[in-house]
Amino acid sequence: MNETLLSLESMYLDEDLIHSLRKKLYHSSEPGYAVLRQFIEPEYTRHIFDYWTKYVVLEKSHQKFVSRELLKPGNPNFYNQSPNGGRTFYNPFWNSPPDEVTHEVCLKIAQLRNQIESRPSFSEIFPVSGSRCVIPRIVITKKGKNVLVPHSDYGLDEPNPENIDLRRTQATLFLSKYGKDYSGSGFIFTTNQDEKIQLEKELALDPGDQVIWKYSNVHAIESIETDDHQAGFVRILFPPEKISPSGKQFLEIKTRRLLSRILNKIRRLGK
Ligand SMILES: [Fe+2]
Repeated sequence: MNETLLSLESMYLDEDLIHSLRKKLYHSSEPGYAVLRQFIEPEYTRHIFDYWTKYVVLEKSHQKFVSRELLKPGNPNFYNQSPNGGRTFYNPFWNSPPDEVTHEVCLKIAQLRNQIESRPSFSEIFPVSGSRCVIPRIVITKKGKNVLVPHSDYGLDEPNPENIDLRRTQATLFLSKYGKDYSGSGFIFTTNQDEKIQLEKELALDPGDQVIWKYSNVHAIESIETDDHQAGFVRILFPPEKISPSGKQFLEIKTRRLLSRILNKIRRLGK
């Protein structure tokens, strides 16, 4: 028999598992986060950690980050560097990957999040001008106070209604170890019960652990400290970035806005 038991449905995560994850995130009796311990194998974690902290050759794979406006298809990977050695890498899916393991893991996490949020698995993977697209961001924080001021994304206080989407979750893949690679406050998350927890410390997170958390909950990083021999707080984030319109579309939008402003003025004068 030349048959194999494989169906499209079997390629998605089991609905019971997804349901239990959703409950942890969205239900008022649950904390608003879910921990996936050792989401990636230790060898992959070590590889990704070493690649981005030691081996990446910036001049070959990345250009200096200037503005979010440049995050659009056709543009390269970007990096940012702070004077104390911290770095941020923006690695859009549309570019050939500097490191294939990182790219593969990031794609899988973005798709897992899509399934949790009940979106198609291709959602926000491909860039569409004017829409959002996940651009995996590797962040190495060495030192700092108020690294991330307390805020919530897509919360009910969001001034732009377009941004309010309470399904939204964020995923953080932890790559370094609190206490060994850095100290300070680490990542502080406010639960659905309004309790603040220091994730790495209180949940004893290890490199390779993934935490999925509800975007509308307040989160912050008060401080990160390292000595000269420590790698820092190394993690990967998956922000859905707004893709800037192309130059032509940008001009069209500006013209449309200008025309509607003129028309409104004429209408007001005519009253
Ligand atoms: Fe945030």
